[in-house]
Amino acid sequence: MAKANSNQPEENKWDTTIDVDLSIAVDLLNQDELVSIPTETVYGLAGNAFSKKAIQKIYEVKQRPVSNPLIVHVADSSKIKELAEDIPPMAWVLLEHFSPGPLTLLLPKKKIILDEVTSGLSEVAVRIPNHSLTLELLKKLDFPLVAPSANPYGYISPTKPVHVLKQLGGKIPYILDGGNCSKGIESTVLGFDQGKPVIYRQGAISMEMIQELVGDVIIKDHEKEKPLSPGMVPHHYSPHTKLILTDFLEVEAKKYAEKEIGIISFKEKLPFISNENQIILSKTGNLNEAAQNLYNALHQLDEMNLQLIIAEKLPNYGIGKAVNDRLTRASYTKD
Ligand code: TXA
Ligand code: MG
Repeated sequence: MAKANSNQPEENKWDTTIDVDLSIAVDLLNQDELVSIPTETVYGLAGNAFSKKAIQKIYEVKQRPVSNPLIVHVADSSKIKELAEDIPPMAWVLLEHFSPGPLTLLLPKKKIILDEVTSGLSEVAVRIPNHSLTLELLKKLDFPLVAPSANPYGYISPTKPVHVLKQLGGKIPYILDGGNCSKGIESTVLGFDQGKPVIYRQGAISMEMIQELVGDVIIKDHEKEKPLSPGMVPHHYSPHTKLILTDFLEVEAKKYAEKEIGIISFKEKLPFISNENQIILSKTGNLNEAAQNLYNALHQLDEMNLQLIIAEKLPNYGIGKAVNDRLTRASYTKD
C-alpha cells in the first residue's frame, strides 16, 4: 500500500495508489487519512466526518476556504436521523425517490456534527451516494464520510481515478478505483425554506425531476449568489485554459481561427477544425451522456496547452441546465 515518505515535503508525502482494496481504504480512514472515493457524480476526497484532524487535511489538500462547508456521506437514510433533526416530511419523500443518488439535502444539524463540517452553519448537507464500492466502504466504517469533490479548489472536478491522480497525486495515499462516474456532474443541493424546497446548487437531479415529485421548487444558487468573500468572482469548475461558452459555436470558432483552439460541442463536429482538437459530448444528442462526458472533455483539452477552449451551450433543460451552469462558471475570465 501507499507509504508516507517522511523525506518528502508535506505536499508530496505519499506514493499515491489507485486500487480497489476496501480494507486499505478502511485502515487509512480509521487513521484520519484521506481517501479519494468514487461516487456516481464525481470522485470525492473523503475523510472521517467526526475527526477534526481529517477535516483539516481536506481543507489543506484542496486549498479550500474554510467558509465553504462539506457534504456528509452516509450509507442509508436511517443514518441521516443520527446526524440531523426536525427533518421535514418532504425530505423523506425526496430521499425515498432519489436516494441512493445525486441528491444532497440541507437539514438542521444535530450536535454530533462538528462546526468544521458546516462552516458554523446550523444545517448539515447529507447525501447517500449511489456507488456500490463506496456504499460498501461506508458500511465498514463507524463514521460517515465528509467528501468534497477531489479537485484543488476552483479546478475541474474529477470523474475518473486518473483525474484525481493528476491533481492530488502525492498529497493523498489512496484512490479507490470505481471506474468512470456514471452521472459526471455534482449532486443537486436542496434545502427547505419554511417547508418549501429550494435548490441551492443545480446538479444531476434536474429541477424538473424534483418538481414532478413535490411541486414548485425555487432555485437560489448559493455558489453564485453568495460569493465567499466580497469581490471574489464565482469562478469555479475551471480549466487553466481560457474558456468561452457560446450558443453559436461555428461563428465563435471562426472568430478565433488563427489561434490554437479546442472545441467542446454538444453533438456535431466542426468541419474546419482538426479532429484532435474537438470533443463531442454526445453524438446522439443525449443530455445525460453529455453531462457524463463534460469534465473529462475539460480535463483532456486543458492538458493540450491550447490558447482557448470554446464550448457550446447545451439545450437549457433537464441536466443540460446544470451542465450550462458549470460551463458558465468555467468561463469567467481570470484577468
Ligand atoms: O456530487 C457531489 O455532491 C460531490 C460528491 C463527491 O459527493 N461532492 C461535492 O462536494 O460536490 P463539494 O464540496 O465540491 O460541494 C459541496 C456543495 C457546495 O456548494 C457547498 O457550499 C454545499 O454543497 N454545502 C455543503 N454543506 C453545506 C451547508 N451546511 N449549507 C449549505 N451548503 C452546503
Ligand atoms: Mg466541488
